[in-house]
Amino acid sequence: MKIFITRQIPSIGINLLKEKGFKVSVYRKDKPIPKKEFIKAAEDCDAVISLLTEKIDKEVIDKMKNCKVIANYAVGYNNIDVDYAKSKRIVVTNTPDVLTDSTADLTMSLVLACSRRISESEKLVRSGKFVGWKPQLLLGMELRNKYFGILGAGRIGTEVAKRAHSFGCKIIYYANSENCFLERNLNAQKLSLNAVLKKSDILSIHLPLNSKTYHLLNEKNLPLLKRSAILINTARGEIVDEKVLIAMLKSKKIFAAGLDVYEDEPNIKKEFYDLENVILLPHIGSATNEARNKMSLLAAKNVIAVLSGKKAITPV
Ligand code: GLV
Ligand code: GLV
Repeated sequence: MKIFITRQIPSIGINLLKEKGFKVSVYRKDKPIPKKEFIKAAEDCDAVISLLTEKIDKEVIDKMKNCKVIANYAVGYNNIDVDYAKSKRIVVTNTPDVLTDSTADLTMSLVLACSRRISESEKLVRSGKFVGWKPQLLLGMELRNKYFGILGAGRIGTEVAKRAHSFGCKIIYYANSENCFLERNLNAQKLSLNAVLKKSDILSIHLPLNSKTYHLLNEKNLPLLKRSAILINTARGEIVDEKVLIAMLKSKKIFAAGLDVYEDEPNIKKEFYDLENVILLPHIGSATNEARNKMSLLAAKNVIAVLSGKKAITPV
C-alpha cells in the first residue's frame, strides 16, 4: 500500500512505515506542496500524512479515491474538511498529547517574554544602547497573584494552567465544560468569556479553530481587557480579529501581546512589525525534537492502525 507524506518529517515515523512494508513517498521541497502536485501525488494513495499548511478541502478529498486515512501532523485539524472526509469513509487523525508540553512551554516563554519585555531588552543591548543599570529601565510585571485567564481548558490549556499556577498566578478559565482537575488542584474558577476578559492580567488562548471560535475575540469583547493585560496566542490566529488587536496595541489599550500564530499565515500584517509591545514567533509551538519525533511516530501509527483494519489511535 502507498503512503504519501507532504513534507520531510522526522525519520522515525517514516522508517516504521517502511519496516511494515508500505511504499512511502515524501514531498522533497521544504515548502508547502502546491495543490495540483498534492492531488497528483495523493490520487492513488491509501494514506496521506499531511501538515497544517495543506488545505484538504472537498476538491482534494474527491480526488483521493483510494485514501482510507489522512493523518494530520498537528493537533489542530482546521486545514481539513473533516465532515466531508468522514462522509467519504476517510478517517482523519491528529497528534494530540505528544505536543502538549512543548506548546505549554512555548506559551510560558511568551508570557514571560511579554511580562518582562525580553524582546525590547535584547534589542536595546544589541543596539549598543545599554549604558548601565537604571531604576526605571524596562519595567515589567510580576506573575505572582495575577489572574491568568485561559480560553479552552483542554490538554494544552491545562498544562499552561499548571505552569502559571506554579508561578503564583490565580487561574480563571472559559470553557464549554468544567475542568475538575483545574478546579480541584489549582483552585481555578470557570467564568463567562466576558468575565475572563475583564479579570485577566494574562489571557492565553488554547481553543481549536472552528466556526464557533473564528474571531471569538473581536471588536466587541477585546476592549474589555485591562490596559495592563497581556494577550497570548499559541492556538490559531483566526480566533483573534487582528485588526482590533493591532489598534489596541498601537493605542496602548493593552500592555503587550505574544503571538505564535496569525490570521493569514504565513502572511503577517505589516503593522505588527512596527509595534514594540508585540512578540512575533513563527508558529513554533510544537517545535521541539521531543514533540516532533513523537508526532512523526503517532502519525505513522495512526496510518498503520487504519490500514490494518484497526481503530485509529487518535481519530478526530
Ligand atoms: C500546531 O499548530 C498544531 O496544531 O499542531
Ligand atoms: C487543544 O489544542 C488541546 O490539545 O488542548
